[in-house]
Amino acid sequence: MTRLLRDLPLPARRYGIIHHRTAIRHARRSSIIAVSRILLIMGGGIAAYKCLDLIRRLRERNHTVRVVMTKAAAEFITPLSVGALTNERVFTELFDLDDEREIGHIRLSREADVLVVAPATADLLAKMAHGLANDLASTVLLATDKPVLVAPAMNPKMWLHPATQRNMATLVADGVTVIGPGVGEMAERGEAGPGRLVEVPELVAAIEARLEASGSASIPAAGPLAGRHVLVTSGPTHEPIDPVRYIANRSSGKQGHAIAAAAASLGARVTLVSGPVAIPDPPGVFIARVETAADMLAAVTAALPADIAIFAAAVADWRVDDAATQKIKKTRGDGAPKLALVENTDILRHVATLKSGRPSLVIGFAAETHDIVAHAKAKLASKGADWIVANDVSHDSGIGGEGARGVPGSGAGRGVMGGDRNAVHLVSGTGIESWPEGSKAEIAQRLMVAAAAALDTRAGGR
Ligand code: CTP
Repeated sequence: MTRLLRDLPLPARRYGIIHHRTAIRHARRSSIIAVSRILLIMGGGIAAYKCLDLIRRLRERNHTVRVVMTKAAAEFITPLSVGALTNERVFTELFDLDDEREIGHIRLSREADVLVVAPATADLLAKMAHGLANDLASTVLLATDKPVLVAPAMNPKMWLHPATQRNMATLVADGVTVIGPGVGEMAERGEAGPGRLVEVPELVAAIEARLEASGSASIPAAGPLAGRHVLVTSGPTHEPIDPVRYIANRSSGKQGHAIAAAAASLGARVTLVSGPVAIPDPPGVFIARVETAADMLAAVTAALPADIAIFAAAVADWRVDDAATQKIKKTRGDGAPKLALVENTDILRHVATLKSGRPSLVIGFAAETHDIVAHAKAKLASKGADWIVANDVSHDSGIGGEGARGVPGSGAGRGVMGGDRNAVHLVSGTGIESWPEGSKAEIAQRLMVAAAAALDTRAGGR
């Protein structure tokens, strides 16, 4: 049992990605925290070295830490150094008879308040998702009924691979909490993207947040979307010109993120495929972070099947053909470089026209500056969507609250794009509904309530 030295209010989370900033704020606020028994399961990866600092920080905060290392983890750091920091025996082998007599895998799990998998390698995550138990780490993870938090760390291509994304969606659905991965440079030269183990303070904060939330960990989802999988795309995409320059657009991701949050609040399991945004993660959703339209298509494909798919992302229509691998230099007299553009796959159309595995309800957005409803109707037909949410993104729409009526060309953060308010028309095969202006959260809630009702009608109820 967790022994609470002082009650600390913390936002309870059933599962999903922990909102890093909230977790860190909590960690900073709390000088005295719950003293807990943490079972750290270390996978084999270059990031394993960060676990030494993690153990030290957890011990400083009075937690006890017991460690299970995979064989691969022991290739990166020695059980000896881990044991010196935990002041406990380090467990490495499943078929160690001594271990089984003294302390078996069931006891390892029973005597922990939370299981933390860090670094969670692609291999370990795959074993967890498929219920494999062929070494001590995977056996303990299969034999536990305690809260599990995973901190993935791997090469960005491995992280974005459909198999890993599928496994992550399964784990989130199973109630596993995910922290990270962070985005940045990898240990391998020239490799960058999502896949870095989150920094130790974030991990400590996430573990403590998970411990605090664990009282509600087993509450089954309730609400009109309980048992449904909702897939949402959000934000812009960045299409590289060279390693330092890219083509982007003004999308903030606020509407897509609000839709993901609304779907989760109605009980859905939510996968949010997000382009680069500067807004907080919505709680209780699985986030696949992507950069380009091609990455977004891969992450969306990996996340299927879904009951409802909502395409709120402002996907770049074109990418630079053959982006330069080195920075393009400005050589005097050479003039401006010519950029050849090629069209990106239309992700909405791709999913809406799937022959098998098409979500029951496919919803697209139409960002228009003129003839809004006419364009939305045309998109409904040409993309094969069930609904199109059409919004006026012209500067003179008058929507967006403070700073909405910006001067054209004065930068982002004006009007609907970047603003907090929206006014939309819902265009479907049966007609057009014009909704009153509201906050993006209000529009999101109304959309998801309508989607839940439509799904029930289509399925003839459940
Ligand atoms: N969309 C997509 N993949 C793309 C382009 C667009 O999934 N490569 C989706 C958007 O997420 C949105 C809808 O298609 O739901 C409409 O996007 P929009 O940019 O308004 O339309 P386009 O088809 O790009 O047409 P245009 O830019 O000419 O208005």
